[in-house]
Amino acid sequence: MLAQINDIQMAFSDTGEGTPTVLLVHGYPFNRATWDPQLGPLRDQGARVIVPDLRGFGASEAGAGGPLTMERHADDLAALLDHLGVREPVVFGGLSMGGYIAFAFWRRHAERARAFVLADTKASADTPEARENRLKLARAAEQDGSAEPIVQAMLPRMFSPAVPPEHALARQLRAIMAGTSGPSAAAGMRGLADRPDSLDLLPGIRVPTLVLVGDQDAITPVADAERLAAGVPGAQLTVIPGAGHVSNMEQPEAFNAALLGFLQRL
Ligand code: MLT
Repeated sequence: MLAQINDIQMAFSDTGEGTPTVLLVHGYPFNRATWDPQLGPLRDQGARVIVPDLRGFGASEAGAGGPLTMERHADDLAALLDHLGVREPVVFGGLSMGGYIAFAFWRRHAERARAFVLADTKASADTPEARENRLKLARAAEQDGSAEPIVQAMLPRMFSPAVPPEHALARQLRAIMAGTSGPSAAAGMRGLADRPDSLDLLPGIRVPTLVLVGDQDAITPVADAERLAAGVPGAQLTVIPGAGHVSNMEQPEAFNAALLGFLQRL
């Protein structure tokens, strides 16, 4: 489906009719298809599941230039919920960049969050070196006119070593990542580099929170998830065995079991 959200046409799916309402927010540079392994099980458990393509990704427009900041994404998500008439607080599930956006959502729209599922993400900002590397990759994508330099740098770190580049999962994710335009990949990278540190936000997150992480996540390792879970009062941490950064795609059964169990306990 497509809807006018703020200044862009935003693509999203909205399926299932029960409760809770679960909003699933993808990572970088992905699109909503990365959440496909979760849709059926969530609907079978009775949830309504809303899954957007964030601005600049998938079939959503990027809008005016400038970095795709976590704040812009968070405001788009609130506007999407308005558009859909969702008044009740939602379960906000975010993977990696989706988790960074969860922190911006909490800062700006806290009353709309019933619970958080924070997967393969972290609360800290980039180190100066990581930031510099992101800006280098953004420039490379701009010069190349495609996301390819970013795909090449990031794809090898997305899954555990059990998923080599020729594996069907890696090929699927490559196609998703490479579908991002060069300008959007660069603007997204600059948005990631601009994100603030959110560690001091964690003690104030007073909604149930599940932290998930693949035991072989090379981008946001288990130590980041432990720090995140230790910061949010009452947060539950589940480590997914045999999974890298995109744990929901690599080990969907274990990921879904943790997610559905958390929702049942809400
Ligand atoms: C993501 O999966 O969203 C990215 O790996 C996030 C990041 O690069 O920090």
